[in-house]
Amino acid sequence: MGLASAVNIADLRRLARRRLPRLVFDYIDGGAEDEFTLRDNSRAFDDVRFRPHQCVAVPQCDLRTTVLGTTLALPFLLAPIGFSRMFYPRGEAVAARSASAAGTAYILSTFSGTRLEEVREHASGPLWYQLYVPGGRAVAEAAIARARAAGYSALVVTIDTPVSGMRERDYRNGVRPLLAGDWRGSLPHLWQFVTHPRWVMNYVADGAPRVFPNVELPAVGAMPCSDVSQLLASTVITWSDFAWIRDAWRGPVVVKGIHTADDARCAIDAGADALVVSNHGGRQLDGVPGSLRALPEVIAASMAALT
Ligand SMILES: Cc1cc2nc3c(=O)[nH]c(=O)nc-3n(C[C@H](O)[C@H](O)[C@H](O)COP(=O)(O)O)c2cc1C
Repeated sequence: MGLASAVNIADLRRLARRRLPRLVFDYIDGGAEDEFTLRDNSRAFDDVRFRPHQCVAVPQCDLRTTVLGTTLALPFLLAPIGFSRMFYPRGEAVAARSASAAGTAYILSTFSGTRLEEVREHASGPLWYQLYVPGGRAVAEAAIARARAAGYSALVVTIDTPVSGMRERDYRNGVRPLLAGDWRGSLPHLWQFVTHPRWVMNYVADGAPRVFPNVELPAVGAMPCSDVSQLLASTVITWSDFAWIRDAWRGPVVVKGIHTADDARCAIDAGADALVVSNHGGRQLDGVPGSLRALPEVIAASMAALT
């Protein structure tokens, strides 16, 4: 099966599994610990049943919707995915261009492998910037200023990564030694690359990126990928941080990673303009319910807080 004959997400997943070295595939496909939450995210959708209305003429389907003042052709956006360049050359730029072509918005991760300005050049539609604060407030403010200057129209603050999720597949596949540049520690896993020469050639031709160019650390410059766990854990976002984040951004702020009524109320009190009900795809805290199951509770609390 090739890309042209893929008809659904399951087909694309099979293709990715074949084309990517195992550790790269597992990095996208895997979740934290026993992957209970990862599976429950899908199961929650499996449990939904439709109640259709028949005998209604629909000459043309129209999925348009308006989010934070922007009209989108589709009722969904592309979520931020860190280091997409590992999956495809200039991955973030390609994904942003595809989102624009489909008439929807793309959310660029702080941990993009491509500069946010370059991604902007490739996209004709709306772009939002997703914020983590590795390196602290001054580093984040510099990224926020760059995103605003480049024309990103909303800031998505992700709050569910106080520590890196314990992704057991990454440990088994030797991701940590590889990120740290420890080639000796990675040796047992090198066969994954040897058996995927096309991926290796593409990655090398793309410059074999190893930094996050939107995170400029003092004295260091662009943040090395190997620092990701340590820097994330040392700069946790709390509700009081939203005061300086809103001051720095001066535009719509979206809070990503809400599961409960309590946190929905806190986010609204902190000035959120929109919420993303999400458990990070089950990649962070295993054991929380599928995101769709949390949606009714968060909607009820948000409605109550806003009336
Ligand atoms: C490989 C990969 C990398 C991700 N990187 C980020 C990231 O950098 N920032 C972020 O906020 N979320 C990140 N996520 C989480 C996604 O944005 C999203 O929350 C997840 O795929 C589940 O979708 P949902 O939130 O719509 O339920 C990542 C997910 C995957 C699979």
